[in-house]
Amino acid sequence: MTNTKLYIEGGRKISGEIRVHGAKNSALPILAATLLNPSVSVIENCPALSDVYASCRILSSLGCRCRRVGDAVEIDASDLSGCEISEQMMRQMRSSIVFLGAILGRLRRCRLSFPGGCELGPRPIDIHISGLTKLGARIIEDHGVLDCALPETVSGAVINLPLPSVGATENIMLAAVIGSGETVIQNAAREPEIVDLSGYLNACGAKIAGAGTSTVVITGVKALHGAKYRVMPDRIVAATYMGAAAVTGGELILRDVRAQDMHSTISVFEQAGCSVYPYNDRIFISAKKPLNAIKTLRTAPYPGFPTDCQPIVMALLTRAKGASVIVENIFENRFRAAPELRRLGADIKAEGRVAVIEGGKRLSGAAVVATDLRAGAALVLAGLSADGTTTVSNVHYIDRGYEQLESALTGLGARVRRG
Ligand code: UD1
Repeated sequence: MTNTKLYIEGGRKISGEIRVHGAKNSALPILAATLLNPSVSVIENCPALSDVYASCRILSSLGCRCRRVGDAVEIDASDLSGCEISEQMMRQMRSSIVFLGAILGRLRRCRLSFPGGCELGPRPIDIHISGLTKLGARIIEDHGVLDCALPETVSGAVINLPLPSVGATENIMLAAVIGSGETVIQNAAREPEIVDLSGYLNACGAKIAGAGTSTVVITGVKALHGAKYRVMPDRIVAATYMGAAAVTGGELILRDVRAQDMHSTISVFEQAGCSVYPYNDRIFISAKKPLNAIKTLRTAPYPGFPTDCQPIVMALLTRAKGASVIVENIFENRFRAAPELRRLGADIKAEGRVAVIEGGKRLSGAAVVATDLRAGAALVLAGLSADGTTTVSNVHYIDRGYEQLESALTGLGARVRRG
């Protein structure tokens, strides 16, 4: 993997208008779900991201035909044959685990290794496994390889998740959708991406009710058919561009967004002193006033403040005068941006789940390393507001979740180049 860098000349306001691309966290489970039906699906607004291409490679390795047509990915799963994903492919990204439920749902057998991409801490899959087991799956683990089988007929179950895991909710939905009984997921994750997955599956003939609430009810159907489906906008990417405007004192119109999915994030930008006006599929943000510190910001499952936006807001709070406190409740390693932000001059103390940011210090450019996707985005934002040039390395992390971030920001007035 080449270590491409982003070179950011800070101090320029981010202003203008930008379209937000489709959601990675929605596209990935939907792509996995396309193999549940033996025909063609067209997934529109499917972002051109390295994680999306990694998913397409997995689908191809299983016998599906994938091709990109404009902003869509077309998947023909009629010749699906393989039920095994190589260790090398599983290691490429954590979300490959969502293929487990989909392959089991279609072929009733699946063999894969534990997923990679664990830069945010251990990220276990015990809830996925216990949920699928309650559904009737037999799962044997041997030297990091999971050998799984699901009975021909899933006759339903009541599965109470110990915590509302997004991935586990998705995996159970995927495995339960073809069957004869009713599966009830209690304490299900309520993220908008779960609603999007159920939207695609229902378009294929599935019977899923309650997605977006804590109780998801899946009534098994005999088979699914292909469908055309449009992926929802990426709410984390939207928040990142809002952060870029906020940290540079700019003004931005975001197009193709869904403000109703972003209440907690919008409220945090407002607390930080930005003016935010959502209307229809647009959000206008203006950051003309100095930023405010935020007394305590806690990440939580949806509809709470998303953990993925936490590093972005951390970058923002380095510019807000006074002390802000962030409590990270979802992933233990989500403060990995903090030491790198310190290299730029930020005053951040992070210990365990709590980070304290003494904001208002001048940031100045330095060489920093993206340690994961959102930490990388946070460093880019800090670089935009720092004096001089910031060099962010490990850009491959950023490419997992942002379509050509440097071109997007350049179009909004920034000086960012890849090299
Ligand atoms: C998804 C998102 C990720 C986001 C996260 C939380 C995708 C591709 N990724 O990740 O961007 O940050 O939701 O909103 O959609 N846990 C267990 N056991 C399990 C599963 C999870 O203990 O079997 C724990 C995790 O360690 C974590 C918490 O549950 O502390 C939430 O994880 P989960 O909701 O499963 O996140 P992902 O689906 O991995």
